[in-house]
Amino acid sequence: MSTHFSIEQARALDAADPLARFRQQFAIPEPELIYLDGNSLGRLPLASTALAHDLVERQWGERLIRSWNEGWFSLPERIGGKLAQLLGAYPDEVTIADSTSVNLFKLAVAALHHQRGRTRILTDDLNFPSDVYVLQGAVAMLGAGHRLEIIASPDGVHAPVAALLERLDSDVALVVLSHTVFKSGYVYDMAAITAAAHAAGALVLWDLSHSAGSVPVDLAGAGANLAIGCTYKYINGGPGAPAFLYVRRDLQPLLANPISGWMGQHDPFVFGLDYVAEPGLRHFLTGTPPVLAVALIEPGVDLLLAAGMTALRAKAVQQTEYLIDLWEAMLAPLGYTLKSPRQAGQRGAHVSLGHAEGWRINQALIRDLGVLPDFRAPDNIRLGIAPLYTTFADLYTAAERLRRAVDEGIYARYSSQRALVT
Ligand SMILES: Cc1ncc(COP(=O)(O)O)c(C=O)c1O
Repeated sequence: MSTHFSIEQARALDAADPLARFRQQFAIPEPELIYLDGNSLGRLPLASTALAHDLVERQWGERLIRSWNEGWFSLPERIGGKLAQLLGAYPDEVTIADSTSVNLFKLAVAALHHQRGRTRILTDDLNFPSDVYVLQGAVAMLGAGHRLEIIASPDGVHAPVAALLERLDSDVALVVLSHTVFKSGYVYDMAAITAAAHAAGALVLWDLSHSAGSVPVDLAGAGANLAIGCTYKYINGGPGAPAFLYVRRDLQPLLANPISGWMGQHDPFVFGLDYVAEPGLRHFLTGTPPVLAVALIEPGVDLLLAAGMTALRAKAVQQTEYLIDLWEAMLAPLGYTLKSPRQAGQRGAHVSLGHAEGWRINQALIRDLGVLPDFRAPDNIRLGIAPLYTTFADLYTAAERLRRAVDEGIYARYSSQRALVT
């Protein structure tokens, strides 16, 4: 093991961290737990606890139905408007609704209708499986001869950019990609892919689940058409928090929500029986928003806005570089492989390490060594960095425990049998 890394050095990096104060804004009931799963379920902002009390006791308990006119009705667009600032979008281009999967369905079907005459849909095999399932379902439901093409990554880490560009032609209706991919953390060049797709007349739908709040996104700058993403990862909106969707302003009146419901109706309280879509983004809402869950997204967004995406990105790059340096010095000799891009510009805020005993090591980390990463088959140990609260000391300690899990044979206590949720 290299000697130039130490916990003292990690603490010195923390002392120099301009974002260090944000950690105090989160509930950290077990300070000794190394939590590296903020890319799956972000921590609880302290402000969310206070807000949850107010929502339940006062807004619901006391104000009852009056609260709909005291802020509830406009919550999806108000919080979406704030979130837009993190995504380089205009406030009226982002709203909160449903789950990421459902939003993907709504936007993909809307886009395919709009692109009538074109039959091909492009994605890659690094995309989140739910996205692929939703597209398969949409193709089957439409019955219009669409073909979903899943382009293979050359190495499971980097995106198949050249192959994707080669396949773009006048028959491609839609390109659907995860901007930051869930296993390796590879980040697509949004502007370049969008420009190439547009040159072929295709629309692009970006899944921003692993980018929102962790990687700077410039939807307007890229001229992006459509996007979706979740709020329970880096945005810290809570388990199963509702998702967001983005539709570029000029496309909003042109695209139809296939799940037309009263919340997207031009005037829902007239209760007319013919659906007339609200021309703006609101017609991508369907039913009554889950108010408590939508409201609880706001504290996390406020923290990210206060920190600023430039500072958050700078810390994510510094911390992922640091973790990769630790891997090289301490872990590579023990059979750990790097399964994330080496180049910082192509990497989001998590680092994936592979190991032939990945699942058992993951068990040892969780049960014996006080580290919570997550595991993605077949052998990825994902180490998620949330720049708002992950410390350099967390990363040094995690690397030291990954080393011990193998060096001291701790992983061998566990079976290879997988759990339900990994
Ligand atoms: C990149 C990505 N897309 C889509 C999803 C699915 O999101 P949901 O369960 O909100 O539909 C996830 C879930 O983790 C994800 O990571």
